[in-house]
Amino acid sequence: MKIIQTIKELQAELSIQKAAGKKIGLVPTMGALHAGHASLVERSVAENEVTVVSIFVNPTQFNDKNDLAKYPRTLEADCQLLQSVGASIAFAPSVDEVYPEPDTRSFSYAPLDTVMEGAFRPGHFNGVCQIVSKLFDMVQPHRAYFGEKDFQQLAIIREMVRQMDYPLEIVGCPIVREADGLAMSSRNTRLSQEERTTALNISRILFESQEYAKSHTLVETKTFVEEGIAAVDGLRLEYYEVVDDRTLQAVRAWDEAEGVVGCITVFCGEVRLIDNIRYV
Ligand code: PAF
Repeated sequence: MKIIQTIKELQAELSIQKAAGKKIGLVPTMGALHAGHASLVERSVAENEVTVVSIFVNPTQFNDKNDLAKYPRTLEADCQLLQSVGASIAFAPSVDEVYPEPDTRSFSYAPLDTVMEGAFRPGHFNGVCQIVSKLFDMVQPHRAYFGEKDFQQLAIIREMVRQMDYPLEIVGCPIVREADGLAMSSRNTRLSQEERTTALNISRILFESQEYAKSHTLVETKTFVEEGIAAVDGLRLEYYEVVDDRTLQAVRAWDEAEGVVGCITVFCGEVRLIDNIRYV
């Protein structure tokens, strides 16, 4: 596996591969890699001859400076994991390499980006679209892989690709969970042992709500989750929305949309965790 830090070197390497007719898969990440990322890379390795994994903690998508400063950075371990799952290139550029000047472009995919994370983290999705579009331009992959844990992000990236006519396929990959159910996240490493135990209640309540939903209305199920989280010491609910999986707008009845997903954001201590669950 090659570790590349500049766009010039990346593009020189990729032009050789593309000239040889090889398909390129891109897995954008912010590092601190775990088994969830590994599953995206494995999927890309299975479907493309060359897999590029970007490792870049993108400053423009952090609306909270503290969160950016505390974001885990583990490049050496990341490269070992990528090597073990067969990635071809780890692309780990500096902030100056990616943003030699401020990116003033704005992306707006209302109403997809005005709800949930978009409402609680102003500017977040603009930053995500800035970096993802830059990576698409730099790598020009045939396929790009994103996790369904960031359900809203995936929907917005699909919309950006559609509106900007990027000639690539977006592949959404299922959430990977720890053996006990907690959704894998780079942020989990910031949880103390006690918080880790507390955080487990998030996925527990979501799974229980899936059962509950079979014999209750959507509104009752939403309350079930909200009250369940409120009853756990150490968890603070930011939002729980039950949405149409295409428009991301809140629905009030199970038959209001073809697909219905519950999206949750919870603070466990200072750590902000997200998860989601499909009902329909
Ligand atoms: O999901 C993430 O890790 C990031 O938002 C992404 C897509 C790598 C862009 O920085």
